[in-house]
Amino acid sequence: MRSLIDIQDLSPAEIDELIQTANDIIENPKKYAEVCRGKKLATLFFEPSTRTRLSFEAAMYELGGNVLSVSSGGSSSAAKGESVADTAKTVSCYADIIAMRHPKEGAPLVASMNATIPVINAGDGGHNHPTQTLTDLLTISREKGRLDNLTVGFCGDLKFGRTVHSLISALSRYTGIKIVLISPEELTVPGYIRTDVLDKNGIDYVQTTDLMSVMPELDILYMTRVQRERFFNEEDYLRLKDSYILTPDKLKSAKADLSIMHPLPRVNEIAVAIDDDPRACYFKQVFNGKIVRMALIMKLLEVHA
Ligand code: CP
Repeated sequence: MRSLIDIQDLSPAEIDELIQTANDIIENPKKYAEVCRGKKLATLFFEPSTRTRLSFEAAMYELGGNVLSVSSGGSSSAAKGESVADTAKTVSCYADIIAMRHPKEGAPLVASMNATIPVINAGDGGHNHPTQTLTDLLTISREKGRLDNLTVGFCGDLKFGRTVHSLISALSRYTGIKIVLISPEELTVPGYIRTDVLDKNGIDYVQTTDLMSVMPELDILYMTRVQRERFFNEEDYLRLKDSYILTPDKLKSAKADLSIMHPLPRVNEIAVAIDDDPRACYFKQVFNGKIVRMALIMKLLEVHA
């Protein structure tokens, strides 16, 4: 039985296989319509979500399976003090696979150690978000035709941005990757990302506060939201929230084939005017998220088309 807690739980070969399955699902959706008939996915979300929870649920329905859902901590016995471990043991009696989002870093790992069914980390605090990374890798693969030899700029809240941490970790296993980290001084990536991921894997990277100075070299610009919910005081959030706002004039120096990505939700960091730019990929990411989660559910349940 396999769980997915960290993107490193999957080898690059397994990620390639998931991308191939996802591409086949897009081409031949009817082939997959019954593969999870009789199976149940439990979505346990103790933190708000639109895309991740609904895409997991849509994915399971499109595979012919069913869904049980806890959509907020307040609506489950977690509100009465039940532990993550007991919740995982309980839900193992009702479902075949769990997707869990939790504000505490490591909670999905604890769930996986106590569940008797696969557990998928659907985002834990400011730590990791491996299925967003699968979404991002599928999107990059479909947009660029490759996952190597790319200059990728991450812009915004790189300190608390779990999607950033997971995607940097995934990209560090491909050749010819250059990472450009663009953030205010207060929101740089955590030290362990620099030492244990970038330095350890010999990845070429730079840090800057100036988006415009690096724009011309980027193949991918991965924008992120400054996350109000992770700040300890409102004053800091208000000071930093509009550090980077991407507008059409700022794209004048960008490559013609730049891919503009964002895990969403967006607040103010990408002007709506950019949505019609052919380089905007963030709503393609939303679609790809459902498809790659279908491929992942199949892999962890060991079902085949
Ligand atoms: N990208 C993402 O995790 O979105 P949600 O918070 O809406 O699930």
